[in-house]
Amino acid sequence: MFLNDNLKIFAGSSNPQLSAAVCKYLGLPQGGANIEKFPDGEKHIRIEDDVRGRDCFIVQSTCQPVDEYLMELLIYVDCLRRASAKRITVVVPYFGYARQDRKDEGRVPITAKLVANLLTVAGVDRVLTIDLHARQLQGFFDIPVDHLTGELVLSNYFLNKKIDNLTIVSPDVGNIKIAAKYADRLGGALAIVHKKRVSGSKVEAQELIGSVDGRNILMCDDIIATAGTVCSAVELVKKRGAKKIYVGGTHGVFAGPAVERLNKVSIDEIVVTDTIPLSQEAKKIKNIKVLSVASMLGEAIKRIHRNESISSLFNNV
Ligand code: R5P
Repeated sequence: MFLNDNLKIFAGSSNPQLSAAVCKYLGLPQGGANIEKFPDGEKHIRIEDDVRGRDCFIVQSTCQPVDEYLMELLIYVDCLRRASAKRITVVVPYFGYARQDRKDEGRVPITAKLVANLLTVAGVDRVLTIDLHARQLQGFFDIPVDHLTGELVLSNYFLNKKIDNLTIVSPDVGNIKIAAKYADRLGGALAIVHKKRVSGSKVEAQELIGSVDGRNILMCDDIIATAGTVCSAVELVKKRGAKKIYVGGTHGVFAGPAVERLNKVSIDEIVVTDTIPLSQEAKKIKNIKVLSVASMLGEAIKRIHRNESISSLFNNV
């Protein structure tokens, strides 16, 4: 479909299936690179294609093990820069460390800014990512950031299901804007759960604003990590009379107790995207479905390469 020797797509180790699907969409072979681990645990990467003067993209989610994949990405960038790539774009479908984005107590880091600095200093020219935890993180970079959203892929899926009597539920206040977008696309009412985070993995859904009695629910979130947020919200809406419950999340991190928690609550279908590959453990989640963001990313890469608009993509995927 789109052969161009000037465009090179390289894959990190975090999400080989997604990288392969992006290359397939573009009709390009994956860029040759050899990634090895030395006996002491250090990574070594050797680029096997000529990249001098080329427009290079590296696809790498900084998911678990986060530090390893982040370091691998930095080494990749260094390799390409020293091999005289003309432009280096990191395609980070899931951007780890993004949730530590402010000092909300004393003596804590802002890791989202730290990672932005590390990437920039390594030599990245441009970032393509999906659903950063907060959109304003784009401002942590002084290089262009193209920000896509999983909501496009997820809402199309739920639109095709033609769910009647639908209420879109935001499982926390921070996610309201995204929930409102789902409501715009799918129709239906909007409800919001007010949550209290007790610790990194413990969340209490405290109150519901809006009615869910007798309604079918689509609960949408950007990240499902320990699943504390989603599960406590699901329990609350069930108690308040919700009928079918669907959950849509862009990034299925599924850390710690997530699988056990999700299998205990009543969810008719949980849908995530492939920004993060499902672990063997996460494959045990009941009623889980994974949608691919490969064509959306592939299309965005093509447009960046051709200097075409990305925003017009939002109406077509
Ligand atoms: C919070 O602000 C996010 O939108 C997610 O709701 C949260 O990060 C999910 O984390 P967990 O699944 O651990 O509750």
